Amino acid sequence: MAASTVVRGEDAFKNIFKFYKRKKPPPDFSDVTDFSKGLTSDKIVPAVLDLSAVSDSEAARAGLQPVKTWRAFGLQGYPGFIFISNPFLRGSQPFWIRQCLKTYPQKPNVCNLDMHMSPSDTQDIWGQSVHGLSSPSSGKREPKTLLERLRWVTLGYHYNWDTKTYSANHHTPLPADLHLLSVQISAACGFPGFSAQAGILNYYRHDSSLGIHVDESELDHSRPLLSFSFGQSAIFLLGGVRREDTPTAMYMHSGDVMVMSGQSRLFYHAVPRIVSAPQEQTALEMEGCRMAFSSQDSTVGGALSEEDWVVCTRYIQSSRLNVTVRQVLVPGQSFPETPSPPQKTDASQAGGHQDRQADGERRRRRRCDSVETSER
Ligand code: OGA
Ligand code: MN
Repeated sequence: MAASTVVRGEDAFKNIFKFYKRKKPPPDFSDVTDFSKGLTSDKIVPAVLDLSAVSDSEAARAGLQPVKTWRAFGLQGYPGFIFISNPFLRGSQPFWIRQCLKTYPQKPNVCNLDMHMSPSDTQDIWGQSVHGLSSPSSGKREPKTLLERLRWVTLGYHYNWDTKTYSANHHTPLPADLHLLSVQISAACGFPGFSAQAGILNYYRHDSSLGIHVDESELDHSRPLLSFSFGQSAIFLLGGVRREDTPTAMYMHSGDVMVMSGQSRLFYHAVPRIVSAPQEQTALEMEGCRMAFSSQDSTVGGALSEEDWVVCTRYIQSSRLNVTVRQVLVPGQSFPETPSPPQKTDASQAGGHQDRQADGERRRRRRCDSVETSER
């Protein structure tokens, strides 16, 4: 039974989400759009890019192919949605994968583990996980490494999962390499002057999902939201402005980039399922960095160390990484004044703080791991 036969109406999005999330029996994927196969349906149209916005050497600095070679698509009925089928240079993805696993989880960035562990315990997530992830499995059930327990990291303006807001006083610099990548993608898509101000990284295991939501916490919606995917593939559902609008299902493969701009910037979306990428494909991409990719003036050039390569390869064999980059404010815009919280006693303050953090963690886990309640 294909998804097109799923009951529509008010619960269309929820029903299609459940359809693709189902484990047994596995769903029929025949209605899933696969942009890597090109213009396979009349709903898919070529996207117009600004070929002069990014020079070939600038693109290479971010690990991207020349813009003229990108395979970029739009989807009828989704104005402002652009799907770029893996525009990365062969062998540059491992650099981004390592950044997501080794560099971006480091302080001062914030991650889910901070919610219930002390700063000293989350100081070196990578270092504490290397041994477990690089040694061959003993066959016994081993405790999960910190890296395997990582679910999200926030960058730049740190998203507050409780209040669903960003704020002026919780901000750290967004990594320069990710800013460069984002500026180039957005410029090529017709958005010069994009400023990457906030990032949310999602770490998916094979049974993770992301519930139906819309990203509207950014104060400015005139700038695009960018999404980068690495590792295992996923089914992405893109709906409309109303929660019940029937979504279109599409694959997101390693290296794929999505740009949500214009009307699509505020469309509901979700990730009901992670799907295995062909093993050869993951291996080929990881191998690429050992052999072909090394560009001297590239920010992302140079091979990974043997240890980094082994850990990244092992991790990515069963996981998916997604990075979303957002512009929160346009020039001249500022966060609304928030009234200062009422003064509390020390005891209630400490208790309240702990509660909020625990709650934030629960909410976030629900958001990432289950269907019914995983809403933002
Ligand atoms: C998000 C999001 C999609 C994905 O983080 O807001 O929608 O592909 N991510 O993981
Ligand atoms: Mn989203």
